[in-house]
Amino acid sequence: MAKLEIITYPNPILKKMSTKLDEVTDEIAILGQDMLETMYDAPGVGLAAPQIGKNIRMLVIDTRSKDEQGNFTTEDMTELEQAIPFPLILINPVITKKEGKIKWEEGCLSVPGYTEQVERFAYVEVEALNEKGEKLFLKADSLTGVCIQHEIDHLDGKIFIERLSMVRRNRITKQIKKYGYDDTTAEA
Ligand code: CO
Repeated sequence: MAKLEIITYPNPILKKMSTKLDEVTDEIAILGQDMLETMYDAPGVGLAAPQIGKNIRMLVIDTRSKDEQGNFTTEDMTELEQAIPFPLILINPVITKKEGKIKWEEGCLSVPGYTEQVERFAYVEVEALNEKGEKLFLKADSLTGVCIQHEIDHLDGKIFIERLSMVRRNRITKQIKKYGYDDTTAEA
C-alpha cells in the first residue's frame, strides 16, 4: 500500500467531471487500498479519486469511529449504517433514490481548516461496483449518507463550499485567498 498526495482547492482537477470506469482491474483495486490508506492517515472519513489527482468515478468511505482500544466500532451508528460493509471502495457510484433533508457540518480534505453546515438528502440509496467488480446496493443515512453525497459531488467536479449560500461561500474563498490553508489562521 502507498500513501498518495491529496490535492487542494482551487486545483482545477477538482473542478473536472470524472469519467466512468469501463472495468475494475487489479490496478483499480490497489488504487482503492491506497486511497483508503491515504484517507485513514489524513485522517478523514471519505476520499474521492479527483482528490488524489485522478478524474475517475471512484471513491472510498469509512465513517466508523474507533473505541478506546483503537478498534473500529459501529455502536454509535444508525441501523442502516451498521448494515454497510465498511470500508467501502465504490466504483461508478450512482444515487438511485434520495429522500428528506438533513443539515450536517462538513469539511473536506481538499479544503483543510474549514467546516460549514451543508444541506443534503437525509436518506440515499446507491448502486456501485466494489473493488472486485461486484454490484453493491447501499441504503445510507446520517453521516454515511452525507459522506456519499459529498464524495459523489467530487466526481461531478463540485466541492462542498459550492453548496453554500453566496455570502458564506464568498467568506470562505476570501479567507482561503488571504490565509491559504493554515489551520491556525483559518479559524480567524
Ligand atoms: Co471532500
